[in-house]
Amino acid sequence: MSAVDTLRWHGGPAPLLELIDQRVLPRRIRYRRYDARAGAAGVARAIAAMVVRGAPAIGVTAACGMALEAARWRDLPRERLQDRLARGAAVLAASRPTAVNLSWALARCMRVATTHRGDAGALAAALAALAARLIREDVAVNRAIGRHGATLIGDGARVLTHCNAGALATAGYGTALGVVRAARRRIARVWVDETRPFLQGARLTAWELLREGIPCTLITDSMAAHFMQQGQVDAVIVGCDRVAANGDVANKIGTYALALVARAHRVPFYVAGPLSTIDPATATGAAIPIEERTAAEVTGHAGVHWAPDGVAVAHPAFDVTPARLVSALITERGIVHRPNRARIAALLRG
Ligand code: MRU
Repeated sequence: MSAVDTLRWHGGPAPLLELIDQRVLPRRIRYRRYDARAGAAGVARAIAAMVVRGAPAIGVTAACGMALEAARWRDLPRERLQDRLARGAAVLAASRPTAVNLSWALARCMRVATTHRGDAGALAAALAALAARLIREDVAVNRAIGRHGATLIGDGARVLTHCNAGALATAGYGTALGVVRAARRRIARVWVDETRPFLQGARLTAWELLREGIPCTLITDSMAAHFMQQGQVDAVIVGCDRVAANGDVANKIGTYALALVARAHRVPFYVAGPLSTIDPATATGAAIPIEERTAAEVTGHAGVHWAPDGVAVAHPAFDVTPARLVSALITERGIVHRPNRARIAALLRG
C-alpha cells in the first residue's frame, strides 16, 4: 500500500487545505478541511491541537495557512493585505515554538508577501503557488535524505526509531522513516518506540510501517535500553525539530535518553532532517525553546484518564540531545559525521 497523504493542498481561486487528523489515527482516517474562512488563525489552531504535527509538516501547513489568509483578504488593497499577512504569520509562528521549520516556512512566505508588487489577488495566487512548491520540495528533500541515509544501513539491520518522523510528519516520505523506506530491502526489523505521552510511535509510525509491509515491532519507551543491552539494535535513527549551530538536537521527549543508552552500548545514533531544521541563529541546544504541553496529554489519552485528579504534571514535549552523542546528521545535502559547529557551518555553506 502506498504512503498516506498527510495533507492535500488545492490552490486556485478558492484554495482548500485538507489535513489528515493525526489525533484519531490509526482508528479513523478523517481529513479536516480548511478554506479561506479558516485563514491563518484556523490553521494555527489545527497545528497547536496536533491535527498535524512533525516539524516539516507543520512548516508546509503554515505556508498553506498564509495562502488561505491571503485568499480571505484578496479584495483589500495590497498594503492592507500585507499587514494581515504579517499578523497571520505571527499567529502561526506562536502555534508551536520548538520546530524551527515553522518560522523557516513563514519567512519564505513573508519574503514573497513583502516584495510582491502586484495587486492583492496576484499576491494571494503567488502564496498559493509557493505553498504547492514547498510541499513538492519537502518530498524531494526527504527522498534525498533517504538516499544518503540508506548508505549507513547494513544488511539485516535492526533499527530503532522514536516518535514519528515519517510521511505523516512531513509532506510525504519522511526523514528518519525516509531512510528506512530507502533501505527497506536491507532492514530486518524496525523497533518502534511507543513515544509517551502522545503515542506518535504506537499510533503513527507503526501504522505507516505496517501499511507498507516493513517488519516492525512496537515496544514501550522503557524497553529500548533492554533491547540495546541484548544486542538487538544495530542503529537508532530519529528525526529532529531544531538543530542548533553547534549540532545539539531538539527532538521528541525521550530522544536524549535513547542517545545516552545508544552511546553506552556503542550503537550508532543517527539524526535525519532537512537543512530547514538547522537553525544557525540558535547557538546551542540550551537556547532552543522547549514546548510545554497540556497536563491532560500525560494524565490520560483519548478520553481515558488514569492519573488521580489534582496531581502535579510536567510535560516538556521535546528534549535536547548534545551533539557529542550524535553519530551523524543526515540531510538532503549529505551526511555530517560527528556534527559540531564547524561541520554544520560547512554544510550550510554548501
Ligand atoms: O510533537 P510532534 O509530534 O510534532 O514531534 C515530532 C518529532 O519530534 C519528530 O521527530 C520531528 O518533528 C521530526 S519529523 C520529520
